[in-house]
Amino acid sequence: MIQAFIFDLDGVIVDTAKYHFIAWRRMANSLGFDFTEAQNEQLKGVSRKESLGLILEWGGVAKSEAEQEALATQKNEWYREYILQMDESEILEGVVPFLDAAEAAGLKLGLGSSSKNATAILQQIGLASRFGTIIDGNKHTRSKPDPEVFQLGASALGVAPSECVVFEDAEKGVDAAIAGGFTAVGVGGENLSHAHMVIPGFQSLTPQDVLVRLSSRAAQNL
Ligand code: BG6
Ligand code: MG
Repeated sequence: MIQAFIFDLDGVIVDTAKYHFIAWRRMANSLGFDFTEAQNEQLKGVSRKESLGLILEWGGVAKSEAEQEALATQKNEWYREYILQMDESEILEGVVPFLDAAEAAGLKLGLGSSSKNATAILQQIGLASRFGTIIDGNKHTRSKPDPEVFQLGASALGVAPSECVVFEDAEKGVDAAIAGGFTAVGVGGENLSHAHMVIPGFQSLTPQDVLVRLSSRAAQNL
């Protein structure tokens, strides 16, 4: 019996991947190389430190720990210039009615994000008070595909992973949900076919649609 929904933030509630991409690209360009939007896909759900490691690898650039720290800080300052301009108009279509309906149906709502900026973004878009718990990148140490972020979220909401649906746009996020014993719903994105169910987005979708589709899928697998 599903009691709670836990949402990833970047790519599920807002499209911040474009801002991460611009800021990381600016950093890469300052080091004399570039990377593609397809490569950027691989950064979804991945922590800032690990993203930097991948980008430097793509550019064939080696940096000391201290230099990496400085580059990550610089990228984050550029990224924050974008996110501090965000407002509720950037909430992806259908998200607010879906949250309203989930809350009305008595489901607990949580947020589980790798981003250390998640709380700031939720405040910018006016959704910070909608979640019973917000587990952001400051509150966990093991990055997706480790399930820690969702496990902390479920325990803060007082539910078991088996009672919880996770909404994720990143391949590694779906991996994390599955590894933790959660039901995973892939949102848009690529490489999500291992999720229990995939939706293009939240437009015209109700929590009941999700629960019915998940339970008929579970029945077919019996
Ligand atoms: C995830 C994004 O939500 O957060 C990643 O999908 C990002 O692209 C990660 O690297 C960490 O974000 P931040 O805001 O802490 O740099
Ligand atoms: Mg995401």
